[in-house]
Amino acid sequence: MELLKDKILGQAKVVSDQILRVDSCINHMIEPNIMVEIGQEFAARFQEEKITKVLTIEASGIAIGLTTAMALKTPLLFAKKKVPSTLGDYYMSNIYSFTKNEAVAISVAKEYLTPADRVLIVDDFLARGEALKGLTHLVKQADAKLVGIGIVIEKVFQGGGKALRDAGVRIESLIKVSRLANGEVYLEE
Ligand code: G4P
Repeated sequence: MELLKDKILGQAKVVSDQILRVDSCINHMIEPNIMVEIGQEFAARFQEEKITKVLTIEASGIAIGLTTAMALKTPLLFAKKKVPSTLGDYYMSNIYSFTKNEAVAISVAKEYLTPADRVLIVDDFLARGEALKGLTHLVKQADAKLVGIGIVIEKVFQGGGKALRDAGVRIESLIKVSRLANGEVYLEE
């Protein structure tokens, strides 16, 4: 795990006191070995939970979701950011992106998320938690069981993790950033 952390942080670039770039391995160009290790780590942490489905949101969540789903031997379901005209009956949730300053409606087809599902949500970043709130809302609408959330990089100082944990959600973050300042990443002790 320490090795994986070092690999990711070794490629990370501090863009500002709010934003960290991991474009060279996770967000834009994808490093397959890092993705496989991330998936195995999430699978190990949630091994006992009898997960039936991994849920994420397009686009950056998909690679992480795929390796996690492969390790857990479950399907991967990803929420779409545009409601497709071909989707039929779907659950929908509205999220607001602070980094992009826009609202987005996310959706999944009802037939792929059911009350029988035990769901693990995964994503690349946890900032204010808007995307995750939208995803947990989709799980709730389906009456499925949310087992937990796996995050690659949690920016603890933006508060999204605290709000979700206070609501009783188990969150496993591989890297917890307490502060970004002067071009440096400070990790939570
Ligand atoms: P939130 O969902 O946690 O509240 O965060 P926010 O609205 O700020 O995030 C919106 C998008 O920005 C998300 O991607 C999220 O992963 C990404 N993001 C948040 N903080 C950072 C950061 O420090 N660095 C990078 N590189 N991305 C960040 P998205 O809109 O779903 O985009 P994508 O999945 O299509 O790439």
